[in-house]
Amino acid sequence: MSRKEDFINDKRRISYLGATYSRIYRGQSVLIEGDYGVGKSRFLKLLRPKKLHAVRVESLFNIHETLAAILKELNYDTKATYRRTPEYLRMVCSLSSCFIVIDEANDIDPRVWPYMKRIIDAGVSVVFAGLPKVRTYLTSEHPDILSRLKTLVLYPIVVEDFGVCAYLSLNIRISIRKPLNKYIW
Ligand SMILES: Nc1ncnc2c1ncn2[C@@H]1O[C@H](COP(=O)(O)OP(=O)(O)OP(=O)(O)O)[C@@H](O)[C@H]1O
Ligand SMILES: [Mg+2]
Repeated sequence: MSRKEDFINDKRRISYLGATYSRIYRGQSVLIEGDYGVGKSRFLKLLRPKKLHAVRVESLFNIHETLAAILKELNYDTKATYRRTPEYLRMVCSLSSCFIVIDEANDIDPRVWPYMKRIIDAGVSVVFAGLPKVRTYLTSEHPDILSRLKTLVLYPIVVEDFGVCAYLSLNIRISIRKPLNKYIW
């Protein structure tokens, strides 16, 4: 079975995809939250709007590397250095036609979050995905940032046996293909 064929889209995932696209197109940001293995990374891969470029950034980078990597992905000739960081921050804040995707947001360095706030406030959409501890951390350390994010909580798909799995997979593929296509511009 190919990766595309075995993908299960429950109602929640479909509605989350719609909500995420709608936020991205309005320049607003999202936090995809879920425990290990619920499908956060897989969900992020679904985000491929035709009119906007998805800039995927490594969450382990420091702020100099993060800003330089975002711009590099958009074909700017950049060097990760603290001297250029103020200029790069301004450039990232003025980007249009793209949105930023950061998986494993639980690994983001505490010093990077205030920069994320500037980017979010500039209207550049950022889609974060991470473990529930991201929300716990933001609740205590950056409630201002959390208030700017729409949090979508993913839960595992529970399939009891192969029969149910085949039933789910088949029915969901037949009935959901149309609504899903709606979001791919
Ligand atoms: N909707 C889905 N239908 C079928 N398989 C899925 C779906 N979502 C995820 N999977 C599969 O479940 C496994 C875990 O998914 P994924 O890596 O996206 O989880 P994750 O939430 O990012 O986990 P982690 O927190 O460890 O990074 C993968 O093998 C993936 O292919
Ligand atoms: Mg993952």
